[in-house]
Amino acid sequence: MRENELEMIPETTETSEVLAPETGTPVADDVLLDVRNLKKHFVVAKSFFGKPIKWLKAVDNVSFTLKKGKTLGIVGESGCGKTTMGRTILRLYDVTGGEVYFKGQEVSKISNKEFDKLRPNMQMIFQDPYASLSPRLTVGEIIGEAALQHGIVDKKHYKEYVLSVMKMCGLQPHYFERYPHEFSGGQRQRICIARALALKPELVICDEPVSALDVSIQAQIINMLKELQAELGLTYVFISHDLSVVKHISDEVGVMYLGSMVEFGTKEKIFSNTLHPYTKALFSAVPVPNPHVKMNRVILKGDIPSPVNPPKGCKFHTRCEQCMEICKSVPPKYKQVEEGHFCACHLYDTQEDIAEYEAAMAAEQAATEVEQTQD
Ligand SMILES: Nc1ncnc2c1ncn2[C@@H]1O[C@H](COP(=O)(O)OP(=O)(O)O)[C@@H](O)[C@H]1O
Ligand code: SF4
Ligand SMILES: [Mg+2]
Repeated sequence: MRENELEMIPETTETSEVLAPETGTPVADDVLLDVRNLKKHFVVAKSFFGKPIKWLKAVDNVSFTLKKGKTLGIVGESGCGKTTMGRTILRLYDVTGGEVYFKGQEVSKISNKEFDKLRPNMQMIFQDPYASLSPRLTVGEIIGEAALQHGIVDKKHYKEYVLSVMKMCGLQPHYFERYPHEFSGGQRQRICIARALALKPELVICDEPVSALDVSIQAQIINMLKELQAELGLTYVFISHDLSVVKHISDEVGVMYLGSMVEFGTKEKIFSNTLHPYTKALFSAVPVPNPHVKMNRVILKGDIPSPVNPPKGCKFHTRCEQCMEICKSVPPKYKQVEEGHFCACHLYDTQEDIAEYEAAMAAEQAATEVEQTQD
């Protein structure tokens, strides 16, 4: 489906309540990126008259904040909305709902012209370094063209500037005149990283940047990204399905399932006090190198349900070993369970939460009865 076929859709009430600050609440000074109730819904079916009738909720009410100079790792099975979230933050897709604050400025609703001024500041590195480089441009042109266009460097200092960025990314000066097809995957990803960094961004969204590379090359690229972060004070959103990579590079970790953030917290908390049954299942699937350590594997039952028709209640309930009755009908709130550690799961309901759910269910029931009487 093409982007221009996609349409804004009305708010729904069936998603979990999310603990995000109100619209317009100021963003803390040390926060670079503040995402509040972000939604990206794709229209997947239209009526005969062209009216949207079915939506795929690729990103559904996601909230988080990311401090300057830190790395947020995003994990989750394929299709859970990681790439769509990254692209929506950078407005490569229209935002269906919610807000994105970059350096305190709300950027999800500003005009394209205004956003274009900010674009160099927010860059994305894609998974496939083969598809994302134009075969007709030289390495020098690929890295320097946008920097020249955005006035980051002038024509006089162009070559010198591009060579300095290439050096920073481990690329030899004589690659300047060569073409991308002459390089291996690892070198191509270095070219993609250099192209992004030439724009002097503050935020870089890395979407599975090493997944397409040989294992031997992956560590080199990850270590280079870490060094560049320390040197340039970059802030990363690092999307990956590889938990060992996420553990290595992240300060905070967000776990996504069917378009929603189900757990979020500092790396230490997420790994040492894992809360959500889905995160536990993901973590238990990672092989332990020590043969003497017994693995307590939690096997995920069944396939991921379709995001077009997600299960009612907790979206994970069809696969959860700890599913309770309430999970089948009431979506759990995404809330802080311990300091800086958020989770959406009924296992952590307090008495107040239960009272709130019961009141909401009673109100819903009363509304249905009124409707039936009127019919
Ligand atoms: N342009 C699009 N139109 C319709 N559906 C899409 C589009 N892009 C992604 N999707 C769907 O959105 C869901 C999330 O996809 P994606 O963000 O690529 O997941 P991930 O990166 O976690 O693998 C998937 O079900 C995918 O099929
Ligand atoms: S809310 Fe229920 S079904 Fe969902 S993860 Fe928690 S225990 Fe499992
Ligand atoms: Mg993806």
